[in-house]
Amino acid sequence: MNLQQGGAVHAHPPTIAAPEYAMSGQDFDRVCEMIRRHAGIALNPSKKSMVYSRLARRLRATGMRSFTEYLDALEGGGPRADEEWQGFVNALTTNLTSFFREAHHFPILAEHLQRLRARERINIWCCAASTGEEPYSIAMTAQEAFAGAARSVRILATDIDTAVLATARSASYRDEQVARVDGDRVRRFFLRGSGANEGWVRVRPEVCGMVTFRQLNLLDTAWPLRPGFDAIFCRNVMIYFDKPTQYGLLRRFAPLLNPGGLLFVGHSENFAQARDVFQLLGKTVYEVNPGAACRLTSRPGNA
Ligand SMILES: C[S@@+](CC[C@H](N)C(=O)[O-])C[C@H]1O[C@@H](n2cnc3c(N)ncnc32)[C@H](O)[C@@H]1O
Repeated sequence: MNLQQGGAVHAHPPTIAAPEYAMSGQDFDRVCEMIRRHAGIALNPSKKSMVYSRLARRLRATGMRSFTEYLDALEGGGPRADEEWQGFVNALTTNLTSFFREAHHFPILAEHLQRLRARERINIWCCAASTGEEPYSIAMTAQEAFAGAARSVRILATDIDTAVLATARSASYRDEQVARVDGDRVRRFFLRGSGANEGWVRVRPEVCGMVTFRQLNLLDTAWPLRPGFDAIFCRNVMIYFDKPTQYGLLRRFAPLLNPGGLLFVGHSENFAQARDVFQLLGKTVYEVNPGAACRLTSRPGNA
């Protein structure tokens, strides 16, 4: 646009490209309802353009001509619909994460691990692991806490999104993703790529070996898990869920934790409404309320 000061404005109206697909208010409401029911994710109207651009890719990939046709096909069932449900979910999750995000949690975890050092096995569940930076940061903290001898620590890392889990399993990241990680840690825990892998780093095998990745939807009514976790990291995911869903999940976490086990949550997550289940220790770290009816009182064998 050409603005001439003090004179006439000679401008062409900006060209606004017509959207490739029309998304009606009804289509958007339907998307919100479907993702809420399936994954617990509550979207609000401010997310409409994000939803449009992410799902337009799915329409292109599946050759659908409209949102209505796409959503009808998803709800219609059948093998192709079952497969596309995963594409739909992967498109709508928000996967922002980083190494040592919310860094204040890691010294607390290190102290907790030190207290458990005599144990044969220490189990940690990271239940919204995204692309892997969080579970690998937990594993690195364990390596540091046990001076490299952290063989007893096992981390189960789960997420609903299969695409992020594939990245997590590859353990490969762009250099920029470790730019803010302490230099000693980068040297100790990552291999630097060279030649065709220039610009990439990979988490070292001794750290990768501590982490197992699996798909798990927190909304599933049955989780294939046994109790016996010493810590659960559930950070920056419950924020997408409504209060009753959060409360229901907290009640299911409590019996999975060993006595003294810790729950780490995101900085903007507050579970004051669930004081009967978890009590705040400080810095968004919780422990099971000793009076909670659903707590685990003895420690069965770990998975
Ligand atoms: C913003 S990321 C947080 C990643 C990491 N926990 C952190 O704090 O850096 C949220 C993650 O939760 C996952 N997620 C969303 N709904 C989920 C559900 N119902 N079950 C399991 N994971 C879910 C998303 O796929 C995404 O990877």
